[in-house]
Amino acid sequence: MNKTLVVSYLPNSQSVTRKVLDYFLANSRGSTTIIERDLMKNNPPVFNGDSMTAYQMRGFMGQELSGDYARAIKPFDALIDEISNVDNVVFAFPTHNWSEPGVVKSYIDAILQAGKLINYDAQGKPTGALQNHKALVMFASGGFYEEGNPRRTIQPAFTFYLNHMGITDIEFAPVGGTLMGEEVTSKSLAAAEGIVDGVISRWFAKK
Ligand SMILES: Cc1cc2nc3c(=O)[nH]c(=O)nc-3n(C[C@H](O)[C@H](O)[C@H](O)COP(=O)(O)O)c2cc1C
Repeated sequence: MNKTLVVSYLPNSQSVTRKVLDYFLANSRGSTTIIERDLMKNNPPVFNGDSMTAYQMRGFMGQELSGDYARAIKPFDALIDEISNVDNVVFAFPTHNWSEPGVVKSYIDAILQAGKLINYDAQGKPTGALQNHKALVMFASGGFYEEGNPRRTIQPAFTFYLNHMGITDIEFAPVGGTLMGEEVTSKSLAAAEGIVDGVISRWFAKK
C-alpha cells in the first residue's frame, strides 16, 4: 500500500484545520498507510553550532561526516529519510501571524538540505529529490487572504519550499474566515473538504 506522511502542528483544541485533517484521514482509510509526524509532540530539531557546521561541511563542501558532526545531523536526517520513504505528504497547521507557525518552518528548514533533498549541478541548477511525491497543504485562518493580498503568504511559500524538494503536484485546502462566525466557517470547511475529496480520488484512484 502507498504511504502518506502527515506533518501536523495543531495546538488549538478547537482547531478547524483538525476537522479537515480528520476528514482526510476518515476518507482515505484503507487506501494508504498513514505515518504521523506530530510537531507538537516532537518538535523538529533546530540547527545549533555542531549541526550547522555538519550541514555546511556535507551539503556545501561534500565532506564525509564523523564523530560529533555525524551525531549532530542524525535527527535532521531521520526526518529526511521519513519523508523520502512515502508517496504523499499532508501538512496541517493554523495560520499564525500571516504565515505557517515557526515550528512548521523549523521542520522545513530541518529537511530542505542541500546535498539531501536539493542537489545542485555544476552550473548551480537545483534539482529536488522527491520528484514523484504529491502534497496537500491544509490550514485555517481567521480572515480571508485572496489572490494578490500581500498577507497571502502560505500558498507561495509552500509552493516554493515543496518545488525545491522536487514536489510539483501540490494542492492547498485553506479554511478562511474562522473568526467570522459559524456560517462563514462552515462554508469554508465544506469547500476545503471538497478539495480533499478531489485529492483523495486522484491520489488513491484504483488502477
Ligand atoms: C497566535 C495567533 C496568530 C494568528 N494570526 C492570524 C493571522 O495572521 N491571520 C489570520 O487570518 N488569522 C490568524 N489567527 C487566527 C487563526 O488562524 C484561526 O483561529 C485559525 O482557525 C487557526 O487554525 P486552527 O483552527 O486549526 O487552530 C491567529 C491566531 C493565533 C492564535
